[in-house]
Amino acid sequence: MGKRVGILTAGGDSPGLNAAIRGFGKAAIGHHGMELIGFRDGIRGLVENRHIPLDGRALSGILTIGGTILGTSRDKVHKMSIDGEIRDMRATVIENCEKLKLDAVVMLGGGGTAKNALRLSEAGLNVITLPKTIDNDIAGTDTSFGFATAMEIATEAIDRLHSTAHSHHRIILTEIMGHRAGWLTLGAGIAGGADVILLPEIPYSVENVSDTITARLKRGSTFSVVAVAEGARDVSDNADYVAAELLVKSSKTGEGQRAARTHLANVVDAQREHTFKLARELEAATGLESRVTILGYVQRGGIPCAADRLLASRLGTVAADAVARGEFGVMAAARGEGFELVPLTEVAGKLKLVPLDHGWIETARQLGTGLGE
Ligand code: F6P
Repeated sequence: MGKRVGILTAGGDSPGLNAAIRGFGKAAIGHHGMELIGFRDGIRGLVENRHIPLDGRALSGILTIGGTILGTSRDKVHKMSIDGEIRDMRATVIENCEKLKLDAVVMLGGGGTAKNALRLSEAGLNVITLPKTIDNDIAGTDTSFGFATAMEIATEAIDRLHSTAHSHHRIILTEIMGHRAGWLTLGAGIAGGADVILLPEIPYSVENVSDTITARLKRGSTFSVVAVAEGARDVSDNADYVAAELLVKSSKTGEGQRAARTHLANVVDAQREHTFKLARELEAATGLESRVTILGYVQRGGIPCAADRLLASRLGTVAADAVARGEFGVMAAARGEGFELVPLTEVAGKLKLVPLDHGWIETARQLGTGLGE
C-alpha cells in the first residue's frame, strides 16, 4: 500500500508555494502511488486537525496562483496560543498524525518552519521541509522559491521610481523586504540600477550616503534612487540594536530575559520608521526633495516567475523521492546545479546573511553604487 502523507505551508506566504504543493503532489500521487492530504493554515491546522484531501483534481490549475491554497500561519508548535493560554502542542501533533495514519508530513516554509520541523522531528514525527521565502535567508540552501519573483517585483518598482525621481529631481528611497538579510535589496538594487543600496549587513553612515548623492549632483544627475533594506540601520542605530540583542542573549534569569526582550522590542519599534528618518536627513544634507515608497506586501503577492515555478516544482519532486525512500529530518535544498537533503539541525536557528565578500557586493562597488560605508 502507498504511503499517506500530509503537506502544509507555514510562515509568510511566498510566490511558488502552490507550484511546490503541486510538484510534490503530482510526483507523490502519480509517480510514487501515495495518498495526500493538505493541512490548513500551517502548524495551526496540524494542531487543530483541519485538513483537506489533495487529489489530482485539487492540484490541477494551481501552478500559477500566488499565495497558498492551504492558507498559512506563523505559529510556534511548542508555544502556541490556545484559548488564551500558551501551550506546547507537540504531543497533540504526534497524536493527530498517528490517528490519520500519516507516514510523513511535508512542510513548506522558511527559518521558523525549519525550527518547528526540527522540534517535531525530535518528538518522533517523520518530517521533511522545502525552502520557501522571499528573503533568501535560509541556511543550507543556495536559494528558496519566492525570492526570484520578489526580486523581479522590487526591480520593476526601482525601474518605475527612476522615471519619477528623474522628472522631479528628487531622491526616492524605496524600502524593500528581506527581514534581517539584504539579498532582496542587493539583487533588485543592482538589477534596477539603484544609486545607493543599504543593507542590514553593512551599517551605513548618513554622511556617506549624502556624499554619493552630492557627487552625482555635481556630475549633473539631479536625482537618486536609494534601495533601503527593511533591516538596514545607520551605524548608531545598529550599535543600539546589537547591544539590545546581546543583552537578550546574556540574560540568564526569567525576569532579566523578559526585561531584555522588552528593551529589544522597544529599540526595534523606535527604529521602525528608519527609511523616513533617512529621507529627512538626506533632504537636509543635499537640498534635494526626498520621497519614500515602502514596497511591503506587494513583493509577496501575485504569480510566481518561471524560475520560482521551476525551482518549486523540482524541489517538490526531490521531496517526494525522499519520502518514498524514507529519508526524514531533512530539508530538500538547492545546491549548485542540483539538490541535496540537508539535516534540519544544519538549518534551524541559522540565518543566511549576505557575506561581506559576496560577489554581488563586489559588483555593486565596481558599478560605483553607494553602500553607505
Ligand atoms: O519573511 C518574509 C517577510 O515578508 C519578511 O521579508 C518580512 O520581514 C516579514 O515576512 C513580514 O512578516 P509578516 O507577514 O508577519 O508581516
